[in-house]
Amino acid sequence: MDKSIGQFDFDEIVPRRGTGSVKWDSLPPGSLSSLGTPGNVIPLWVADMDFRAAPAILQAVQQRAAHGVFGYTEVGEAYYYAIIGWFQRRHRWNIQREEIIYTTGVVPAVSAALQALTMHGEKVLIFSPAYNCFFSSIRNSGCEVLESPLRSMGAAPFEVDWADFEAKCADEKTTVFLLCNPHNPTGRVWTADELRRMNDICLRHGVKVVSDEIHCELIMPGHRFQPFAAVSEECRQNSVVLNSPSKSFNIAGLQIANIICAVPEWRRRIDRAVNINEVCDVNPFGPVALMAAYNDSEQWIDSLNAYLWGNYQALQAFFAQHMPQCVVTPLEGTYLVWVNISALLSAAAPAAPATPECSEPTEAFCQRLLTEARVRVNPGTMYGSVTGRGYIRLNIAIQRSLLMEALHRIHAFVS
Ligand SMILES: Cc1ncc(COP(=O)(O)O)c(C=O)c1O
Repeated sequence: MDKSIGQFDFDEIVPRRGTGSVKWDSLPPGSLSSLGTPGNVIPLWVADMDFRAAPAILQAVQQRAAHGVFGYTEVGEAYYYAIIGWFQRRHRWNIQREEIIYTTGVVPAVSAALQALTMHGEKVLIFSPAYNCFFSSIRNSGCEVLESPLRSMGAAPFEVDWADFEAKCADEKTTVFLLCNPHNPTGRVWTADELRRMNDICLRHGVKVVSDEIHCELIMPGHRFQPFAAVSEECRQNSVVLNSPSKSFNIAGLQIANIICAVPEWRRRIDRAVNINEVCDVNPFGPVALMAAYNDSEQWIDSLNAYLWGNYQALQAFFAQHMPQCVVTPLEGTYLVWVNISALLSAAAPAAPATPECSEPTEAFCQRLLTEARVRVNPGTMYGSVTGRGYIRLNIAIQRSLLMEALHRIHAFVS
């Protein structure tokens, strides 16, 4: 049952090499000479999935393709009702039609929200480690990144350092807190109490919350996703939520996302930023895929989560048996597993770094893993130059047979 869950076969290998896939077809800069081609590399890095999208999505996109005319596109009323219906049913969040602004992606949405809500030179607070594009988006918006490190307690879930968080909110230059809910890369699914507490602190110091909720459908057993804006009216009135079915339904290449904001003045400014940045025009496939995801793919997402949980359990058991010196962070949500490999670094990367420019031990480890074991993972330092040291991020949204093969290669490499 846990192999191919229900009617969906997540074990089926869908060859992606040669399709222009970033995950399968590209190599990190500098590795071309040593690696030659990406052939035979198992990619556990960039965050997309190796499964076909849900049948309803495939059908909707094929139907739209069969129409044959792909002119400029706007979304219709049915698009908004698909979003409103899904979040009401699935997450008990009542979104009003006028609160929704559509755009081409969540990263463009982060940038638009920051440009609309901050002034040049202000500070944007993030938990660290953080999704790497947060750093660039904040800087590109003319702001400074302020990190509040999450605390790790061995094998326990990461926690907010509340005193540090409040002190950083109190910095007079901090105007926005950019949250990732659930959290990439630590896999935390924030509880309603934690979110309420974050907002209380933000409100005390006049800090607005921008909540990136792109991972919200990827939730492991025992956890529940809580939309930030649905925690309380105070949260709703102090936040902008960014969302998309792209991550969870594996349609990132179709480029569709939504910004949800209950404050009319903020919305007006965000709408303007979306237009100025020219990310207001979507392609014809994005809206139909979104509607098929939210209207007709609930069973698929439940089955996907069950499969991902099986992958996580297999990975956890493998590390416990073969590499017990590594600490696997508990996975509450997302398909990204944050593993502390500090204990391996002195043992596994003793020789000269793989490339002259790769002198940081975590990065050198990942580089050698790629060239020698042909497994590609993300070094933790991508997500925090200090907080990510000694960590790797593993994308487990891959067929279990390939995941196990990758784990065996990692094990062989470190032994
Ligand atoms: C937290 C987070 N936000 C945004 C994105 C990317 O969003 P998009 O492709 O819609 O720009 C990712 C992708 O990994 C992510 O993890």
